[in-house]
Amino acid sequence: MANAATATPPRANNPLREGLQSERIADPCSIVFFGASGDLFKRMLLPSMFELRQHGILPANFGLVGFSRTKYTDAQFRDYCKTQLDEFAYGTKPDDALWNDFAKGIRYVTANFDDRSHFEALKKILEENDEKLHTGGNHLFYLSTPPEVFPKIIAQLKAVGLDPKNNPKGWTRIIIEKPFGIDLASAHALQREVERVFDETQVYRIDHYLGKEPVQDIMALRFANVIFEPIWNRDYIDSVQITSAETIGVEGRGGYYDNAGALRDMIQNHVMNLMALVAMEPPATSDADAIRTEKFKVFASVRPIADADVPRFSARGQYDAGTIDGKPVIGYRKEPNVAPESNIETYAAIKLYVDNWRWAGVPFYLRSGKRLARKVSEIAVTFKSIPHRLYGEKTDAIEPNVLVVKIQPDEGISLRFDAKVPGPKDHIRSVSMDFNYGSAFGVQSPPAYERLIADAMRGDQTLFTRWDAVERAWEIVTPVLETWTNQRDLTFPNYAAGGQGPDSARTLFPMWRTL
Ligand code: BG6
Repeated sequence: MANAATATPPRANNPLREGLQSERIADPCSIVFFGASGDLFKRMLLPSMFELRQHGILPANFGLVGFSRTKYTDAQFRDYCKTQLDEFAYGTKPDDALWNDFAKGIRYVTANFDDRSHFEALKKILEENDEKLHTGGNHLFYLSTPPEVFPKIIAQLKAVGLDPKNNPKGWTRIIIEKPFGIDLASAHALQREVERVFDETQVYRIDHYLGKEPVQDIMALRFANVIFEPIWNRDYIDSVQITSAETIGVEGRGGYYDNAGALRDMIQNHVMNLMALVAMEPPATSDADAIRTEKFKVFASVRPIADADVPRFSARGQYDAGTIDGKPVIGYRKEPNVAPESNIETYAAIKLYVDNWRWAGVPFYLRSGKRLARKVSEIAVTFKSIPHRLYGEKTDAIEPNVLVVKIQPDEGISLRFDAKVPGPKDHIRSVSMDFNYGSAFGVQSPPAYERLIADAMRGDQTLFTRWDAVERAWEIVTPVLETWTNQRDLTFPNYAAGGQGPDSARTLFPMWRTL
């Protein structure tokens, strides 16, 4: 049993989802982690699985299979998992009883993804699990390998009969890590491979931002309250600014990042998904597809950026040496596995318009970058100025109202409004009303992956991105991506690490929020 010192804090529930699928214990199943010797598995996926077991969401009948290049026997892989959990478990640390219970379902395949016999070995393990652990023929495949390997794994699963059509006993689902393609053409190519084997109801494209608690709360804020929706439109909203700023650099991922850049890595997926939640219409029901259809409709309404307009609608940056938390850090071009003359952006900002009745004329500013002054992800909705000024001393600026959804590191919502300063004069100042998850609910939000894995096991696709939205998101960013690829930015590097990003982004955003 967990002792008081290690007990996991209670969990926040999204009121919108009460009584829905999220309340269910996941089905008995085997979950296979392709790429189990990688970083994501040890830091996020394995600790999430362990926490799910703790919270009784993972069923007693489950099997966890690691499938990766590193050589392990089953016993060695269990030891590896134990060591990683001792370091990375974020809730309860595994004591003997808990660990033994969890470990009994762990198996491993040392794999070469080209070798069919290793997939045959996997099939045998899954059959054994069905028999011995009573996993009911339910198989969840989690692809957390480098993306080049995704098509190979999918083809091999089919070749050995681990595809859904060959599984009459239970369900077969696949979780696909980002990036889903590196551009529109490659996303299409990957989708063709996926469709050969899985239909859309079996595909779970992960965007971990959707699993973050404050992100799930955007819908609750909008649709579980009456006061926001009437003003949530072009009549009252001036602009929306969505920021995902980081202080970290490329953290040893130079090889990947120098072929990606901020637009692909963050904007096309995480940041655009946030935008969809802000801009969507109320769904007809709380079904996954009703919600995902509304999100898709936002993307379908985004005005395409013409090639000639790319400079007016976007800004890019690359960090130079600078200072983060008082310590000097190197510039992007000096990072390992980054080209010395790299043209890849570590900062991207775009301005989008959603051309529909609700949003016509309201700019959505999206920005994301590495090595910035502060780690912060937030959505700032700036309302229009008052129509007529009656109050305040002449010199007082009357600031517009701003509603900020704080995603991280602070989690909460704040509303800025103007108030009279106490005293004989009629001075006006901006003040803010703050809601903070931690203090309001006395809980700690679970990490995104925990929620997402549990949802995939329960068959709830709400927080996963549907293909039509992924495709449309690629279409939206394509003109910018192509222009940036074809035209070298001769100003790079153009912002110092630890700063606010490139000046060109500030010019793009009239309502610029300082980090
Ligand atoms: C990942 C990106 O998807 O998200 C990383 O590939 C980025 O480059 C990370 O650092 C940010 O996630 P979070 O949850 O720390 O904001």
